[in-house]
Amino acid sequence: MRINVMGYKGGVGKSVTAMHLAAALGHRFGEGTTVVVDADPNQSLVHWRAGRPEGMEPWPFEVVGLEMGSAWQRYENVVFDSQGRPSDMDLQAAVRGSDLIVVPTTAEGLSMRPLIGFLARLRKMGASYRVLLTMVGWWNTQAQERRKQLEDARQPVFGPEIRRRQAFDTATETGRLVYEFPNSRAQEAWRSYKRVADEAVEEIVGARRALAGRR
Ligand SMILES: Nc1ncnc2c1ncn2[C@@H]1O[C@H](COP(=O)(O)OP(=O)(O)OP(=O)(O)O)[C@@H](O)[C@H]1O
Ligand SMILES: [Mg+2]
Repeated sequence: MRINVMGYKGGVGKSVTAMHLAAALGHRFGEGTTVVVDADPNQSLVHWRAGRPEGMEPWPFEVVGLEMGSAWQRYENVVFDSQGRPSDMDLQAAVRGSDLIVVPTTAEGLSMRPLIGFLARLRKMGASYRVLLTMVGWWNTQAQERRKQLEDARQPVFGPEIRRRQAFDTATETGRLVYEFPNSRAQEAWRSYKRVADEAVEEIVGARRALAGRR
């Protein structure tokens, strides 16, 4: 399956989401099945991997950067990470090339308008997409409000949400993923991403079945 992590905004957890979704898919489907493609010119995932200390157990997925061309095509599961605010052309290419677009968004921000505008563009292009609430604080009424607004606007939102946790920053800085930290908050964060991945797989498999049924 092909999953694209995209957003209308920078710094909302797209790269963190792409890595942890790839890890969850790799764990679920096995070694050699999954790759994450770093399509952001910043190459933040490539740097993340480069910061991994030698001798650690390999991640259950590959990371490829822009220089790798189309090597990712032979993988069963591909997660793409891209930069914020894609052009219409980039967005169209992503929609054509993926089964699901995951749109991470933080709960703060006074206006929903830019997000709703982005989702409207996706819908117009016929995309299958779902919003993921990220960096949710302990005062999470804001997240609940944002979820309700999205649901009222008939926008699909993942059931699990990703809490704001120090482990994510530590992970990006030390070449790790949150499942590699034993503390309970990091483990809870990892379970959230696994549940998001399961929901994404369920959605994609369901859509494929529906399509096959119509044929
Ligand atoms: N759930 C979280 N809790 C705490 N910190 C987080 C969380 N998710 C991401 N971060 C941190 O927030 C910062 C931005 O995250 P990330 O790089 O994933 O966002 P992005 O949308 O890919 O940004 P960009 O648009 O620059 O590519 C990073 O320092 C990351 O470690
Ligand atoms: Mg990024």
